[in-house]
Parts: sequence; structure tokens; C-alpha cells
Amino acid sequence: MAILPIIVAPDPRLKLTCAPVPKVDAAVARLMDDMLESMYAAPGIGLAAPQVGVLKRVIVIDTAKPAEEPRPIRLANPELVATSEELKSWDEGCLSLPEHYAEVVRPSRVAVRYLDEHNRKQEVEADSVLAVCLQHEMDHLDGILFVDHVSALKRNMILRKLRKAKKLGTLAAE
Ligand code: NI
Repeated sequence: MAILPIIVAPDPRLKLTCAPVPKVDAAVARLMDDMLESMYAAPGIGLAAPQVGVLKRVIVIDTAKPAEEPRPIRLANPELVATSEELKSWDEGCLSLPEHYAEVVRPSRVAVRYLDEHNRKQEVEADSVLAVCLQHEMDHLDGILFVDHVSALKRNMILRKLRKAKKLGTLAAE
């Protein structure tokens, strides 16, 4: 496995639409493992392939608390099949926007269909932090960051600070 550098916003590579994988073969499974290792090292609870410069519809998630056993989920071509009408606000962060957080409103429950690391069709129903994380990571596959869900004022403030931090070299930008 390998730890991959994580791209920090603002960066045009984070604004692109990713392509589905034709199938989860050994190369995609290895990408999933590398992404998980990179996510744990960061540390974070979710990572999408475009954040490591790979424009494929692949995400990894582990919302287990530090004291719990790891619960990694590897998803290719994830699709929302149902969302609750009930909405919930959550204070979100992102490994591509380090040290910045904002309240984002999303459906509180979702069902997601995907291919697992063995190319098997799976479906997961989620609420709470897993529902937030699934929606946040799936957004990345369409070039959407959590700051795209908040006011332009807040978004521009965060992006301006990140741009400045990159220029000063105080962030480990790629
Ligand atoms: Ni993110």
C-alpha cells in the first residue's frame, strides 16, 4: 500500500466530474486500499479518488471512532437510490480544505448502491455521520466541495485563507 498526497483546494482538479469504473479489478481494489491508508494517515473519515488526483468514481469511508474496531467501506460507482425528506445540519470538514469547517444541510438518511472491492453489487442504508460522509464523498465525484453548499461569503473566506496558506507554504499542498 502507499500513502498518496492529498490535493488541497482551491485546485481545478477538485472541480472535475469523475468517470465510472468499468469494473472493480485488481488495480481499482489497490487504489481503494491506498486511499484508505492515505485517509487513516491524514487522519480522516472519508476520501474520494479525485482528492488524490484520480478521476474515477471511487470513495472510501470509515466512520468508526478511534476506540472502535476499524469499519472500512470501499465504494465504486456509488449512486444515491433514496434520500429522506428530513434534513439535518452537520459541521463538515474535508481533507482538501484542512482546518476549515462549516454547517451543511443535507438529507438525514440515504440509501446508496455501489460496487464493493470484489466487484459485487451492494447497498447501504445510512443515517447520522455515515449518511453525511457518503453524500460529502459522492459530491467530490462531481467536483462539488462542502463549501459549495454554504454562502458565497463563507466559501470565499475559506478559499482565500487556503490560497494564502498554500502561498506561504504552511500547508502540505501537493
Ligand atoms: Ni472532502
